[in-house]
Amino acid sequence: MSHEVIKTLYTKLYGQKDTFDADYQALIDIMTRAVKARKPALKALDQTRSSWFFSNRVVGMTLYVDLFSGNLKSMTSKINYFKELGITFIHLMPLLKPRPGENDGGYAVMDYREIHDVLGTMDQFVALVDVFRNHGINICIDYVINHVAKEHAWAQKALKGDPDMQDMFIMFDDDVIPKQYDLTVPEVLPEKFPGNFTYVDEIKKYVFTSFSDYQWDLDFKNPKVFNGMVDNLLYLANLGVNMIRLDAIPFMWKTLGTTCRNLPQIHDLMHLFRLIVKDVAPSVALLGEAIVEPVEIVKYFGTEKKPEADVMYNANLMVDIYHAFATRDVRLLTIDANLYRMPQKSTWMNYVRCHDDIGWGFNEDAIRAFGLDPWHHKQFLIHFFNNDHPGTFASGEYYQYNPRTLDARTNGTLASLLGLEKAHANKEAFNVRTAIDRINLAHALILSYRGFPLIYSGDEIATLNDRTYLDDPQKRFDGRWIHRPRFDWKRAQKRDIMGTDEYQVFQTLKRLIKIRKTLSYLDGRAIQFALDLSSEHVFCLVRRHQNKTFFALFNMSEHPQTITTSVLRQHATASSYKDVTQGRILDLYGDQIQMSPYEYLWCVPDQ
Ligand code: GLC
Repeated sequence: MSHEVIKTLYTKLYGQKDTFDADYQALIDIMTRAVKARKPALKALDQTRSSWFFSNRVVGMTLYVDLFSGNLKSMTSKINYFKELGITFIHLMPLLKPRPGENDGGYAVMDYREIHDVLGTMDQFVALVDVFRNHGINICIDYVINHVAKEHAWAQKALKGDPDMQDMFIMFDDDVIPKQYDLTVPEVLPEKFPGNFTYVDEIKKYVFTSFSDYQWDLDFKNPKVFNGMVDNLLYLANLGVNMIRLDAIPFMWKTLGTTCRNLPQIHDLMHLFRLIVKDVAPSVALLGEAIVEPVEIVKYFGTEKKPEADVMYNANLMVDIYHAFATRDVRLLTIDANLYRMPQKSTWMNYVRCHDDIGWGFNEDAIRAFGLDPWHHKQFLIHFFNNDHPGTFASGEYYQYNPRTLDARTNGTLASLLGLEKAHANKEAFNVRTAIDRINLAHALILSYRGFPLIYSGDEIATLNDRTYLDDPQKRFDGRWIHRPRFDWKRAQKRDIMGTDEYQVFQTLKRLIKIRKTLSYLDGRAIQFALDLSSEHVFCLVRRHQNKTFFALFNMSEHPQTITTSVLRQHATASSYKDVTQGRILDLYGDQIQMSPYEYLWCVPDQ
């Protein structure tokens, strides 16, 4: 059945090529080989674990192996650190062989079948995946699918003039068409790599390079690119990983006269990847990374009939959380929680920080409905988090500031963005406490939102911005390294010293994770909606499981708030609720509930 659908879609994309029959056969051969190569132990997992990522036991962390522990071998010795916190899923930042020199944090891969030698070997990687799985920790690997390093074999052959290999990329003899593309295609890195093409002297051609001159975009209009990248995808799936992160998917198809973002053909590609992976390695989930407008992000889930990514980065939630902290207004969170729908078989990966900058893409219609102008509002957020708005608590930095449009994105660690750095710099003990309350609330929120949470390594010990990257010639030109420091194991030791920032963040998160694992309301499939309470400052998420209702309440302001119980009562399945984080009893037949500054409550029916 799935082969028929695969053939239909493949025909839709590549049917007009003379080589269609051979290309399709080549794809089927790749799949057949991968099925044969899949180890019996993995096939056994495929039988039982196809929807593991829905479980409320899934709590993720993302990290760079070199920055965290040095290499793959030493990662294994850190397993107890993850277990102590309750982590059951780890996304390892790119670890396949990158180009030498600057490599965009590993996102410029020259060989998808080899591990970066400073990290270890492929055998060590496979062994690590097995060890972690045996300890109940699933592994996600990065797959840079939109582009390859210019040192990749395909690009190297193209550079030597091989026409078939030049066809794997998008290149032109002169700048006539590139200039036409540039009219409609936005720049990803206007400051660092302006334009969308790189002139390559060796071949006297203009090559499509969305991200940098050393990352060459692949041409997915060519079935040989599709087949080759599927071959790599299945190779990675067969290493035993449980999830594969597909990087930068909105860029995968280019058509002149468009923005070359989120084009419809990408949804066909995504559906095909999903069908192929489910056919060969059903327990491997696909995580899509698309940091684009919220309405476009949800489209990468596909539909019930045509599913795409199993899991998507919830970039919109991240923006909405910072938005709520800056404005103390939760209405955007509430609207968005009720707006975006996904097919039954998919879910979100929720995060407050990751390795990238924060691009301020939000639901502009909602902002207009609040009587605000989206452009000005974005400017407010950019300035607020860059520490140049009156009264701001944040100390982030601009990223890719564009002096023409005044647009910018934001870098900084969670703790620095939420006020800890500034509070310490100003020696304001009260503000330190408040910043820690914000951090804990942010973690509680991503732990209760539909999907599974992903903690950014270092945030669990309140890591602050680190400017030492400026001394590294390979990193100094990319401000994102400010929030990608080497993991500070000395700082981590303070997680056991009462009263320290590290203790207050780590131990709170650890408790919340432990509680999350007991709450079936937080299964990724459990229904979720948000309630509009009487307070603009209190966000209320509702989760339903087996006809019972769970409430998660978050006071996103530094002032005490009072909420009336009437709206909660309409959805309650008991007259009294118990908050499982502190043990508060909430009587829904009382008129009001008081919440302290930045307080959060996880409320279960108290029978
Ligand atoms: C993704 C990655 C980012 C990288 C880009 C290009 O957005 O998250 O770090 O720079 O893709 O590969």
